[in-house]
Amino acid sequence: MLKVENLIKSFGKGNDTLEIIKDISFEVKKGESVAIVGTSGSGKTTLLGLTAGLDNPTSGKVIIDDIDITTLSENDKADIRNQKIGFIFQNFQLLPSLTALENVMTPLELQGQSDAKSKAKEMLKEVGLDGREHHYPNQLSGGEQQRVALARAFVTTPKILFADEPTGNLDEETSLHVENLLFELNKNHHTTLVIVTHDPQLAQKADRILKVRDGKIDVN
Ligand SMILES: Nc1ncnc2c1ncn2[C@@H]1O[C@H](COP(=O)(O)OP(=O)(O)O)[C@@H](O)[C@H]1O
Ligand SMILES: [Mg+2]
Repeated sequence: MLKVENLIKSFGKGNDTLEIIKDISFEVKKGESVAIVGTSGSGKTTLLGLTAGLDNPTSGKVIIDDIDITTLSENDKADIRNQKIGFIFQNFQLLPSLTALENVMTPLELQGQSDAKSKAKEMLKEVGLDGREHHYPNQLSGGEQQRVALARAFVTTPKILFADEPTGNLDEETSLHVENLLFELNKNHHTTLVIVTHDPQLAQKADRILKVRDGKIDVN
């Protein structure tokens, strides 16, 4: 489902070049769940962004469903993201001028689905946000925004879901609920999961744990 080959990402030029991702390769099979762990600043968010096609690597390949997304135009990449990929950002990235419901409807509307509203409502209910549909992001708590972001990523039942610290802002009970949602999606729809997390309880639930250390996969 996902193949990452010799991925390198550096920022800056000349003597100021900083290599953040240092030749990372790994594979994730269809339906597999993988947790990416590592200390703060080790490159997890950068790696996830590259893998989901949100950012371009300095070199290397990212193959999703047999397509090397690093060779695609921005438009084609956006299409692939909309059709196959769900992404949950560490800082949510909800659209501030849209309500919770409208935020969740957005990816469905991009796909041209006619029943976007009812599907989005159903998904918001599933993440426990019944009655919050018409609130704007700044009227919601961090945990509630987190769940809107989850609903937006889940609502299209993507083939592969990338999540950056999806339980980072949640209390224990809501974390558990979100974890269950993630793994239900994995089980019921064979959604491939790639989850960055600090939470050992969440990491343990994944089929496999990848440790990132200083921009490399730590094999020990
Ligand atoms: N756009 C950027 N320009 C320069 N340095 C960056 C940029 N994005 C991230 N970094 C640096 O890359 C390193 C890894 O960051 P990040 O991927 O966010 O780590 P993590 O998610 O593991 O905490 C950090 O040292 C960060 O400062
Ligand atoms: Mg991060």
